[in-house]
Amino acid sequence: MFGRLKALPADPILGLSIKYRADENPLKIDLGVGVYKNEAGDTTILNCVKKAEKFRLENELTKTYIGGTGSAAFNERMTSLIFGDHKVLNENRARTVSTPGGTGALRVAGEFIARCKSGAKIWLSNPTWANHKGTFSESGLDIQEYPYYDYENKTLDFDGMLNALKQVSPDDFVLLHACCHNPSGMDLSKEQWQQVVQVAKDVGFTPLIDMAYQGFGDGLEEDAYGVRLMAETVDNMILCSSCSKNFGLYRERIGACTVIGETPATADIALSVVLGVARTIYSMPPAHGAAVVETILGSEELTQEWYTELAEMRNRINGNRKVIVDKLIEKGVTRDFSFIANQKGMFSFLGITPEQVQQLQDEYSVYMVGSSRMSIAGISPTNVDYLAESIAKVL
Ligand code: LMR
Repeated sequence: MFGRLKALPADPILGLSIKYRADENPLKIDLGVGVYKNEAGDTTILNCVKKAEKFRLENELTKTYIGGTGSAAFNERMTSLIFGDHKVLNENRARTVSTPGGTGALRVAGEFIARCKSGAKIWLSNPTWANHKGTFSESGLDIQEYPYYDYENKTLDFDGMLNALKQVSPDDFVLLHACCHNPSGMDLSKEQWQQVVQVAKDVGFTPLIDMAYQGFGDGLEEDAYGVRLMAETVDNMILCSSCSKNFGLYRERIGACTVIGETPATADIALSVVLGVARTIYSMPPAHGAAVVETILGSEELTQEWYTELAEMRNRINGNRKVIVDKLIEKGVTRDFSFIANQKGMFSFLGITPEQVQQLQDEYSVYMVGSSRMSIAGISPTNVDYLAESIAKVL
């Protein structure tokens, strides 16, 4: 039976980590998967997480099933973190469930959309996170693309985006990145968000916002601007969030899916459908990561510590953006890479060809996604010279 199967290629992002680990070059650099690394190149556990885990170890009372929604305290605190003091919360129109990571939230959202309208069209930015297409295809959604990144000019193709969104149907769903666009690092300004939200309102499509990097762009509040404005304006919306990056809980797989309905009653119906969907995919979400996050967000002291640690990660990445731009100039590169310094979050496209990306990997052990997406967090004071020299050589 299994002989009938055709082997699948390795995942374009996760496959890189496997290759990187097997590489014996001591100079190797990992700019592949979106994982924060400190100056020493390590992905350590946040201090606030360590403390919350200790608290949990000492206070956890049961391992019985947590139920489909997951922890109510986690859901409530995450919802407040994302939306702040928001009218949809005051109007009791938002329902949140914990999910296995951000991908779990997206998978649930995909199935939820399919229940709203079988084979519904979902519009993704071009480009978007490599796993979006696969995740939504699993739910039989009709994947469409709207223009987003202008590869030529290394900017946002905002006119193209807006014009495309004006053409979609009210029955369609549109995926937007809340902040730190993955893979391009190009975010919408406040004014651009206002225009996109207006189009969503006028056209009547349902926005699905993916928020995997809250706090990695300009700050927790700033990064939530678009999400909050959209939720204030439209009747229905889906929000998928992740604690992988901002709490550094990657392998604990914790995220959330929030559905906002026009009224509390429709929100309740939407929640029942979300729970039905989750039950058939993974039954119930894992509890550990949620317990960590709810402990941090439930303690003034741990929350303060988390703000500090999050700011440290954000500032290091933003600092790296400038460092690599300057280093390339120092190494004699004449091509303009200044755009990298103005982009946001974990990623930017270097803008080189797939052949040059492959050459960087084969000859210099520098690993980035084939599209030339670099995880900026992988740059460090010890590898930036070698990185810039390697890039200079393949150019
Ligand atoms: C990435 O884009 O590198 C991260 O979101 C990790 C992943 O699962 O792809």
